[in-house]
Amino acid sequence: MLKNLFSFLITVLLFSAHVGAQDLSQLSIEEKLGQVTQPDVRWITPEQVRDFNIGSVLRGGGTLAQPGELPSESINGPLAWAQLVQRYKVIALQSSSKIPLLFAIDAVHGHNNVTGATLFPHNIGLGATRDLVLMEQIAKATALEVLATGIDWNFAPTLAVARNERWGRTYESFSEEPSLVSQMGFAYLTGLQTSFEQNIWLAGTAKHWIGDGGTTNGIDQGDTEMSLAELRKIHLPPYLEAIRAGVPTVMASFNSWNGKKLHEHKFLITDVLKTELKFEGLVVSDWNGIDQISTPPGLSPDEKYMFQIAKAFDAGVDVFMVPENWEKFIGLSKRLVENFEAKRTPSLDPTRLDDAVRRVLALKAKLNLERRPLPLELYSRFSKHFASPAHRDLAARASGQSAVLLENKLSKLIAPSDRVHVVGEKAHLTGPQAGGWSLEWQGVKGHIPGSESILDGIKSKTSTHNLRVDYTPQIYSPQLIQADKIVLVLGEDPYAEGQGDRTENGPRLSVQDEALLDEALAMGPPVILVLISGRPLLLPEAASRASALISYWLPGTMGSALADYLVDEKKFSGRLSFSWPRSKDQLNGDFRDVGIEWLFPFGFGL
Ligand code: BGC
Ligand code: BGC
Repeated sequence: MLKNLFSFLITVLLFSAHVGAQDLSQLSIEEKLGQVTQPDVRWITPEQVRDFNIGSVLRGGGTLAQPGELPSESINGPLAWAQLVQRYKVIALQSSSKIPLLFAIDAVHGHNNVTGATLFPHNIGLGATRDLVLMEQIAKATALEVLATGIDWNFAPTLAVARNERWGRTYESFSEEPSLVSQMGFAYLTGLQTSFEQNIWLAGTAKHWIGDGGTTNGIDQGDTEMSLAELRKIHLPPYLEAIRAGVPTVMASFNSWNGKKLHEHKFLITDVLKTELKFEGLVVSDWNGIDQISTPPGLSPDEKYMFQIAKAFDAGVDVFMVPENWEKFIGLSKRLVENFEAKRTPSLDPTRLDDAVRRVLALKAKLNLERRPLPLELYSRFSKHFASPAHRDLAARASGQSAVLLENKLSKLIAPSDRVHVVGEKAHLTGPQAGGWSLEWQGVKGHIPGSESILDGIKSKTSTHNLRVDYTPQIYSPQLIQADKIVLVLGEDPYAEGQGDRTENGPRLSVQDEALLDEALAMGPPVILVLISGRPLLLPEAASRASALISYWLPGTMGSALADYLVDEKKFSGRLSFSWPRSKDQLNGDFRDVGIEWLFPFGFGL
């Protein structure tokens, strides 16, 4: 009995020394600064994580393979990831504070950096499903695949309310409509943060606070120019729901609000998010986000960085994603604390640092990190879910439900005995079907191992139907003239973040794609036009001459699901979560605008 009580007390003491931590006095300033520093593992070794008492690391978008190398299962599969995470976690436990390490990743549409993972449609397609139950299941499946690699923190969901299709991140947004984003975000977090056996769960992140989808001209990381009332009305509601769902972390956004960067916005981070909305978790900065804080003229590079660090801390940022510059960050932050003691500026108030550290330790305690099995153990428990048949079925269902039928002049899209000619390399290549944040940060143009393309799906129907299927990436095939139907797949090449901005002319088909469309229409057989894109595109007039038009967004690794709708007459259920602009001047409009004649209105879908 006594012995039990003793060991209980020891556990409580250890726990509070390590992660419970009301008493931060046991931690040195270096140990505290380490806890709030988040390097990318490509720029820090496990030994450095130990020596600097680093609190969390991330691995940004991309595979474990060297550039140019094939990201095969052996190099980049779940086991390879679990081994990587294990190395960091085990060595981190030998730090002076012994506080366990958090490992973070962007699993934004499935565990997208890992070879073989189930990739779901990007958020814009999920918004089109309007299916909250499906959303929750997808997020839960994502959590299982992420946990199988020993990772504990996911930088998702994106809660952007995208208001201008020029923006390269439009596809990360569920909708232009705040209430739909709120509902999808809540369902996502509920599924993602499911508590599995022994209270093992994955932490989510609501990002990017606030106004990321509202920048002028849709410029990534740009300026969101609007009144506070508008900001609250359009961009804030999804965060209320995320907090209600128990999201433990929020990521600060790269954008500014009326000229001031969010990373230095004390009013928005501390007064609104933490105080008014009662968000008690931690705020993590975005990738070198503090570097964009404006500084007074005449400072040396170090002075400049010190100024920016001080500003961000003071604004309420708790964890600093400083992928490469982590050592400089720690050194200069220490000088900022010394400045405080010496009453010099800029400075870092140690009580603010304590508050940040407390938030980090609170997350670790909530995640029960002390008692969480190590990554290889998690791998052995959870890897049976990785790309399981159930997850692939779920992905196929989601892809199918995301498809929006925008136009149909045919009695049957594809009849069971049709001769079908499929044209366009995006019918066949699954990289473009998955979009950005798929294996690589910017996505891949070729194939994603283990995936099924739109063409695969149509071909698979030949085993049960009398269909004949031909495929050519381009049009020069005489067989085309004899086809009963042409399925033409066109759209955008993969991109992520600013690289997808189309600020000049807006998002549209390439010149080559437009030529393919004209050629296909000139062949004679009816054309079923399928669009692969991260957003509504400005369509050429010729598109209206297609016999059917389908927006398939970025379906992920199970694009094959469309065949059930094309061939088996499964009923389309997808509905637009964005208003589809007819012209350039409508790109920044939304469904509330009166008097706009959209090409297809919000909510449309046959
Ligand atoms: C993106 C974030 C992402 C982070 C880490 C940034 O560039 O804006 O959404 O979580 O990188 O990869
Ligand atoms: C990383 C991404 C990150 C981006 C920011 C890339 O190298 O892989 O995760 O968002 O840089 O610029």
